[in-house]
Amino acid sequence: MSTAQSIALDGEGAINALQTRSLSPALGAEIIGVDLSQPVSDSLFAKIQKCWHDNIVVLFRDQHLSETDQVRFAERFGQLALSHTRRYTTANPAVMLISNIRENGKQIGALPDGEMQFHSDQCYQEKPAMASMLYAIEVPNVGGDTLFANAYAAYETLSDDIKRRLDGRKAMHAYDYDSASMKRGTKIKEGVPHFAHPLVRTHPATGRKALYVNRLMTIAIEGLPEEESDALLNLLFAHQENPAFVYEHIWRVHDLLMWDNRCALHARTDFSDDERRLMRRVTVLGERPM
Ligand code: SIN
Repeated sequence: MSTAQSIALDGEGAINALQTRSLSPALGAEIIGVDLSQPVSDSLFAKIQKCWHDNIVVLFRDQHLSETDQVRFAERFGQLALSHTRRYTTANPAVMLISNIRENGKQIGALPDGEMQFHSDQCYQEKPAMASMLYAIEVPNVGGDTLFANAYAAYETLSDDIKRRLDGRKAMHAYDYDSASMKRGTKIKEGVPHFAHPLVRTHPATGRKALYVNRLMTIAIEGLPEEESDALLNLLFAHQENPAFVYEHIWRVHDLLMWDNRCALHARTDFSDDERRLMRRVTVLGERPM
């Protein structure tokens, strides 16, 4: 992959470069030479944030991060989501474990096993997550990769006719999957969190439009007969999951990776129950999609 230098002025007016490497033609940049266990200056943070906006996913390899380090870095992007139930959190309510490890028969983390379909975090809430950040502590030898799909590219490559059909419409998203994470219901059961958002959202920082539906949680397009809604959604799911728009991240221990839920979907490949996977996740709150 190519390396690139993004030139920026720091607070003192000096020219500083952020060293980056493209992760794939679809999206993603690795940021090289930054140690996130140390506080990040305002000028460095501005460059990281711009790189994130430009590339949707940013990766920092070989980071040795305590929970406090990870939380301190995530807080630079905005207010963190806190777990009220404290399920799968550590002593810090902003930190959630994602893991298939069981101790005394009990799961220590959320989203434990195997494959997950494409989705966007908390799309079923009025204000879905802006950013999600995973830090890899234990990874399987094979599989358990995370896939990221570029939702700007998905929107921009739709035909004019489909864009017209989406214009002004909303889709309903519902959180009705259990730990299998592979079921998609078409009816909202009582007590299931759900919210309708525009099918096409505009990113507040970049001004770009992104397709905002996903196979795991989008259940219907409002105002369309069920058959038409299902057919259009299936077409959109297939389109947005086109491998040309996707980067597959093969994890290494000590990777810190952050994605923008406003313009990316993510999914997970299958992995064996016999292998351990442990990630530390921190989520940054977002705004209502417009
Ligand atoms: C998630 O959907 O947040 C989990 C992704 C993963 O485990 O790779």
